[in-house]
Amino acid sequence: MTHSAQIEYEMKSVKNSIRPFMKNTYEKGTAYTLAMAVVCLMVYINPSLARSAEYSSSSLCRGCHTDIYKQHSESMHEKSFTNPVFQSQYFNELLPQIEREPDLRIEAEACTACHSPIAYLKLRKHITSKEQVNPRMSGVTCDICHTITGYTGKRHGNGNFISKPSDIKLGPFKTNPCNFCG
Ligand code: HEC
Ligand code: HEC
Ligand code: HEC
Repeated sequence: MTHSAQIEYEMKSVKNSIRPFMKNTYEKGTAYTLAMAVVCLMVYINPSLARSAEYSSSSLCRGCHTDIYKQHSESMHEKSFTNPVFQSQYFNELLPQIEREPDLRIEAEACTACHSPIAYLKLRKHITSKEQVNPRMSGVTCDICHTITGYTGKRHGNGNFISKPSDIKLGPFKTNPCNFCG
């Protein structure tokens, strides 16, 4: 979604959310203007509100980056969480072991950070059930890689990447924004 499409979308949701209240109180036009003013004010105060607040699923990149999408969808990065070997090691072996050795939580947190990074960024701890993971964004997605801006600490290591959802997709070497993306 582009910057302006995002604003349009947000305006639409504000419009929808005030609709039940406007029966007698507001004229439709007044309510719409009010909604627009609220959105403009929000965006003015904090420009980052105009950006996507959520990561995009890789399928959103499919229409334009067809070949990359195809390669990615067949890759282990896409399946890093869903593949049965990982699921069995993590859910059947590691999680039950944590009951006996709580320190293993740190290990599990590292598995989560690498194998399901978007869930990790949301939870900031290890996954304890499959329901915590959005199935559309369970693995190492396009968006997680292309929104990483750096890492915390002195060296890059397990899960110390810095990434937040943005409609700016970082590419090779330079950080040109992709104005057409997610
Ligand atoms: C509507 C079409 C469209 C969609 C959808 C789209 N892109 Fe792009 N993307 C482009 C075009 C066109 C370019 C090349 C022009 C540019 O750099 O802005 C590009 C460039 C890029 C680049 C290179 C930027 C650079 O600095 O060279 C990356 C990375 C990228 N896209 C990632 C993504 C990701 C990740 C998604 C899905 C979340 C996505 N794109 C969705 C059209 C799209
Ligand atoms: C594991 C991390 C990772 C994932 C997953 C990933 N990328 Fe990339 N992508 C990179 C890196 C690193 C580069 C820069 C490669 C280089 O410098 O040669 C890149 C380059 C690109 C480029 C610009 C160069 C080109 O070949 O056109 C685009 C566009 C792009 N990726 C889109 C995507 C899309 C779309 C997806 C998902 C379908 C995706 N990437 C998944 C890490 C990733
Ligand atoms: C630093 C990132 C990182 C961490 C931490 C990590 N993995 Fe992985 N894991 C990978 C990568 C990359 C691969 C694919 C390359 C390979 O097979 O060596 C992989 C491969 C695997 C595989 C083989 C099947 C697959 O999913 O590709 C399993 C199973 C697995 N990891 C389980 C785990 C478990 C369980 C933990 C936590 C105890 C863990 N990993 C921690 C990055 C990581």
